[in-house]
Amino acid sequence: MADKVAKLQIPHSSDTIELPIYSGTAGQDVIDIQALGKHGVFTYDPGFMSTASCKSKITYIDGDQGILLYRGYPIEQLAEKSDFLEVAYLLLNGELPNAKQKADFDERIMNHTLIHDQLVRFFQGFRRDAHPMAILCGVTGALSAFYHDSLDINNPQHREIASLRLIAKMPTIAAMCYRYNMGFPFMYPRNSMSYAENFLHMMFGMPTTPDKTPDPVLVRAMDRILTLHADHEQNASTSTVRLAGSSGANPFACIAAGIASLWGPAHGGANEACLNMLMEIGTEDRIPEFIARAKDKNDSFRLMGFGHRVYKNFDPRAKIMRESAHEVLAALGCADEPLMKVAMRLEKIALEDEYFVSKKLYPNVDFYSGIILKAMGIPTSMFTVIFALARTVGWISQWNEMIGDEQRIGRPRQLYIGAAQRDLVPMDKRA
Ligand SMILES: CC(C)(COP(=O)(O)OP(=O)(O)OC[C@H]1O[C@@H](n2cnc3c(N)ncnc32)[C@H](O)[C@@H]1OP(=O)(O)O)[C@@H](O)C(=O)NCCC(=O)NCCS
Repeated sequence: MADKVAKLQIPHSSDTIELPIYSGTAGQDVIDIQALGKHGVFTYDPGFMSTASCKSKITYIDGDQGILLYRGYPIEQLAEKSDFLEVAYLLLNGELPNAKQKADFDERIMNHTLIHDQLVRFFQGFRRDAHPMAILCGVTGALSAFYHDSLDINNPQHREIASLRLIAKMPTIAAMCYRYNMGFPFMYPRNSMSYAENFLHMMFGMPTTPDKTPDPVLVRAMDRILTLHADHEQNASTSTVRLAGSSGANPFACIAAGIASLWGPAHGGANEACLNMLMEIGTEDRIPEFIARAKDKNDSFRLMGFGHRVYKNFDPRAKIMRESAHEVLAALGCADEPLMKVAMRLEKIALEDEYFVSKKLYPNVDFYSGIILKAMGIPTSMFTVIFALARTVGWISQWNEMIGDEQRIGRPRQLYIGAAQRDLVPMDKRA
């Protein structure tokens, strides 16, 4: 029950509408406006800048303080002390696993890494130069044609098995998107490896060198990338998954919808844009020119990978990614490559320059993850695919939460500004 109430006076009405105010565990209070429709008005909030679309117990962000919590645990502690599958268990189930629960969960996930052999043939239908996100979107949607035994969204066992399958198969499908582009043979998963190690094995392994295993520094960096991107509360792709799911659509189709939303440059495409900018700058001597452009009010150019819509303090994920970026550059011995030198110099300038410091434009997580992925030899077109792979557990956790909660089909209203009702004029009388 709400112990606070907001009062709203509508012009030309004697009614004062009382709207309950709810407080969460943390964050802003929300005003419950569900009763407004009965009074003949709706709210108008394009982009949902002031609208909470659901209650959630999964992720909390405080952008001003630079805080990100999964189920209450700070992201720094999870990235330091847990691995991705432990975080996945936490997001899905609400609590950290004990040793036995973790071992069982790892085993269940790794037992589902293979995809149906018939699904492998789907890849042949795509052009070799297809964007890997196009392939990922299509193949993930197609999963619903293969796993009929997990499509009943009202059955908790079906929901659980669909969730495990999605988390387990996504690295396999993501790696296949890359291998298909490159014309390399697909690599079978290796279930004895960790989740991140197996993904790197499927990306870069070759049947001709079966004993080669991924570098542990790269495995740790990939595990962290996955952990840091696992969830980020009600962003565009997560809201898309919830909205698609609100109609009762199956989870595979809902995740495919999330992938489509993530694909946009304003969402998952940011680290790709950052890398493209670094390549455009090219050499350190050109940095001042780009910094001047970023500061120029009459130039629309912005430094990609700097600033964040939500975090107005150092993004807590960026701090962790920064550490990994330096570890990876040292391990691969590529810190002296021109692109990496440009990145490191830009980072230094942005952290010291008055313009960036006063506007709190810190390097964001995409800046560092872009550098890491590039150093690993992953093409920029694959960056968003890896983001989708990481976010699948967040999407499916949010989807499960929605199904378990009071499920209503999402149906926003609109402010209609088109033509008023008018009569059809016969064709021969039209101007
Ligand atoms: C992420 C982003 C969209 C957030 O924007 P926002 O919260 O709406 O912030 P604003 O656009 O209001 O910017 C605030 C001020 O900082 C400036 N600014 C913001 N990001 C900037 C950047 N990357 N380079 C240069 N100036 C920037 C704006 O020009 C504005 O200046 P003003 O106050 O003098 O007008 C923005 O920082 C950006 O475009 N960054 C680059 C793209 C990127 O890395 N995106 C990934 C985000 S995960």
